[in-house]
Amino acid sequence: DRNIKIAPSILASDFANFGAEIRAIEAQGADWVHVDVMDGHFVPNLTFGPPAVKAFRPHVKTFMDVHLMIAPVDPYIEAYAAAGADMITAHVEAGPHIHRTLQAIKAQGVKAGVSLNPGTPLESIEHVMDLVDMVLIMTVNPGFGGQKFIHSGVDKTRRVREMIGDRDIYIQIDGGVDVTTAPLVAAAGADVLVAGSAVFKGGSVDQPEVYGENIRAI
Ligand code: DX5
Ligand code: ZN
Repeated sequence: DRNIKIAPSILASDFANFGAEIRAIEAQGADWVHVDVMDGHFVPNLTFGPPAVKAFRPHVKTFMDVHLMIAPVDPYIEAYAAAGADMITAHVEAGPHIHRTLQAIKAQGVKAGVSLNPGTPLESIEHVMDLVDMVLIMTVNPGFGGQKFIHSGVDKTRRVREMIGDRDIYIQIDGGVDVTTAPLVAAAGADVLVAGSAVFKGGSVDQPEVYGENIRAI
């Protein structure tokens, strides 16, 4: 069947060893590296600015998937693209001009993703489907790892798959993905699964084989 990609979120990794953690998950089978950017405004947590993402870049050999949970987005697109993002995903809720934001991301020569929070209806992305390379369906309320999967995301995944039709657009699921919930969204049409706690739990840079076991189990 379709080969599902796993994108571990380094939000769940050791914050004192990002380079080693990135190398470890890629050596253990990660398809992408998911970088959760949080601004303490759009979401109640604060993580990585452009300098941090630039420091991650040389360690990423697969694909650096940058999830911007920030508002406003537009002032920072160029900086995250210059930091080396392969894809930049913006939240439809982050401002009134998602169409212009996605145009600005693509103008940087970077893949463009649009993300919806659990409470946001799909109608909000109806008119940008010709601009995006990926739709990120949040299955937790953004801001933290280790939260419980919100099951309404499964039907939402099915409906996004219908909206996509024969366009070449990935569906990414983000939040609470683990051995139990992954099959539900994979069956519903997901292409990329983000997993933080489900990948990093029980492992470390000194025990990276646990990351491989966790990735294969999802
Ligand atoms: C939440 C982030 C997610 C989160 C996933 O705001 O966007 O990527 O880090 O972590 P888990 O897989 O532990 O829910
Ligand atoms: Zn994320």
